[in-house]
Amino acid sequence: MRTLTTIAELRAARAALPGPVGLVPTMGYLHEGHLGLVRAARAENASVVVSIFVNPTQFGPGEDLATYPRDLERDFKLSEHEGVDLVFAPSVSEMYPPDDAVTVDPGPIGSRLEGAARPGHFRGVGTVVTKLLNVVQPDRAYFGQKDAQQLVVIEHVVRGLFLPVTIVACPTVREPDGLALSSRNVRLTPTQRAAAPALYRGLARASNGWRAGERSPECLRAAVRAEVEPERELCLEYVSAAHPRTLEELQTVPAEGVLLSLASHAGSVRLIDNVRLGEEGATG
Ligand code: PAF
Repeated sequence: MRTLTTIAELRAARAALPGPVGLVPTMGYLHEGHLGLVRAARAENASVVVSIFVNPTQFGPGEDLATYPRDLERDFKLSEHEGVDLVFAPSVSEMYPPDDAVTVDPGPIGSRLEGAARPGHFRGVGTVVTKLLNVVQPDRAYFGQKDAQQLVVIEHVVRGLFLPVTIVACPTVREPDGLALSSRNVRLTPTQRAAAPALYRGLARASNGWRAGERSPECLRAAVRAEVEPERELCLEYVSAAHPRTLEELQTVPAEGVLLSLASHAGSVRLIDNVRLGEEGATG
């Protein structure tokens, strides 16, 4: 495995890789969720590139850029163990040279849900993912369903800019108690960690309702709230039952099903989770 920090080095090494090439973009502090993406990429491609870059443009003022967990040496070891060919770990100035002012704005889809709570977040994600796709030029790029809106936004950007890459969505990986894996989970105190599984319990309660025939978006949202609100360590920011592609809040359920998602604070840690409810069943 080679570890590269400049775009020039990455391009030269990429050109020598046998194809197809799979890219797993990450912000590091790798966990089993990321490793699931790497394994999916490994299974489907001749070569695998992992990028590790804590992207400053997707963090708002007052968000956790400074405290975002980092451990590059550990990430390199885990990547090597998974058979990754190249790790691209550029500096901020490599990705954003001083005179760079180009951004990729996904439009209204990036202003809903997470985008409403974190203005500019999806412009940052759209910009960095487009840069990474242009630098690595993978055949496939892998993203987790845990960041459901991010996936929708990236598919939208790829379609809109005619980027020649297939976006592959991989299922959310969960702790045995249901908590979705996230690099931020390490910052939960023991009491917050004990409370956090209520988020998935809420989503699971709504999924059970869905399986039993519940089709009212308001009742699905209420089922999530009923499970989470009693938890004093958690402060719900939103519960959404939205169209899975347009992300518009639903009054009635369309044929495409529902993206049921939430964001909650546990102290200073912001947690998100979601399940997709569709005619084929409930996943997440
Ligand atoms: O999901 C993430 O870790 C990041 O948002 C991504 C896609 C690597 C862009 O910085």
